[in-house]
Amino acid sequence: MATGFILKGQVLSFSGSPFDGERPEDAARLQEAVAVQDGRIAGAGTLAEMQALLPEAATVDHSGKLIMAGFVDAHVHYPQTAIIASWGKRLIDWLNSYTFPEEMRFADRAYADEIAARYLDLTAAHGTTTVCSYCTIHSESVDAFFAAAQARGQRVAAGKTCMDRNAPEGLRDTAQSAYDDSEALIGRWHGVDRLEYAITPRFSPTSTPEQLEAMGALWGKHPECLMQTHLSEQTDEIAWVRELFPQARDYLDTYEEFGLLGAKGLYGHAIHLEERERHRLRDYGAALIHCPTSNTFIGSGLFDMAGLMAEGQRIGLATDTGGGSSFSMLRTMAAAYEIGQLRGTPLHAAQLLWLATQGSATALRMDGKIGNIAAGMEADLAVLDLASTPAIAQRADRAEDVWEAVFPTIMMGDDRAISEVWIGGRRV
Ligand code: GUN
Ligand code: ZN
Repeated sequence: MATGFILKGQVLSFSGSPFDGERPEDAARLQEAVAVQDGRIAGAGTLAEMQALLPEAATVDHSGKLIMAGFVDAHVHYPQTAIIASWGKRLIDWLNSYTFPEEMRFADRAYADEIAARYLDLTAAHGTTTVCSYCTIHSESVDAFFAAAQARGQRVAAGKTCMDRNAPEGLRDTAQSAYDDSEALIGRWHGVDRLEYAITPRFSPTSTPEQLEAMGALWGKHPECLMQTHLSEQTDEIAWVRELFPQARDYLDTYEEFGLLGAKGLYGHAIHLEERERHRLRDYGAALIHCPTSNTFIGSGLFDMAGLMAEGQRIGLATDTGGGSSFSMLRTMAAAYEIGQLRGTPLHAAQLLWLATQGSATALRMDGKIGNIAAGMEADLAVLDLASTPAIAQRADRAEDVWEAVFPTIMMGDDRAISEVWIGGRRV
């Protein structure tokens, strides 16, 4: 048995959801040290307790810093890494102008390998230890991503993005090939090491009813998998879905009808929802994924975090790279805060940090494994320097409690605020 190690600092964990009680901070716990052994958290408590737990372990001193679970990014497109921050388009034009030409390049395995490695290096540098990614229609793009994550020992979910219409030649599969290729990938990757497969119909406009039906059948056969797609991101998109599916009651119905609504379903954006859609999503315990930097960057709208949380929806947080304008979950929390402000419902720092870890892990149904610090959980950790720039340091210096100390880093921090990252108990 390895001797393990101890990190000493301000160790943040959650005993519940900060959206449930009167005071968000009551769901959070701060302890002095965390002990790690064999890739898992051995415990958290006082330094003396951790030293008694692992007597042989060395202690790394991070006094003044915040030690927390690594960030969990619940909706990303790793193939869009190189086209992040592309100017001036709204959703459908943005897809056609920037995204589809770039995704075409992933037929080349060597290019997919290069971008997968670049993406995972960039996100790790920003403190992100788990992502749930769309790939492209090419199985090679999925193999490249899983292989890169496996080499890093990372827990990730990903899937082949399926499209059989309204996408250019070279970027379309068929109902049958999408089913067959996705199933082969499930067999190759799902449950291998820390990897999970997510069945991935891109969104209703790029799938025929036949393809959605095939994806629903595949999910029915493999209920162990996640299913990810997009829902009600922009009003123009919703109008297009209405034209393409005239008999559907609403956007969600285009998924529901084909067996693509379920508890392991992840619905990205979910901004402009109807009453019926909200009820159905909640009744199924499906997850809504909030992508705030994307929703402002592409001009999509203001997600109703407070209203949706109050009605008991399951919600994760995500960058949506490269529709999102950042790889950083700090920047993403800041955007979520700003959108809350625009709706008159500011989020507490404890709520933001929970969304970026345990909230997203719960959305991905990985909350028993990652997203928090507790004995037995996988040791994916980030150490945050709360004084990483002069501007942040001078504000944090005035703080009267930990929440006031961490909030400037949430609002103004970037990869410079990430002192150390641990994946599966290994420093990266
Ligand atoms: N809807 C369908 N595909 C995409 C995508 O790649 N990014 C975003 N933001 N929305 C989408
Ligand atoms: Zn997306």
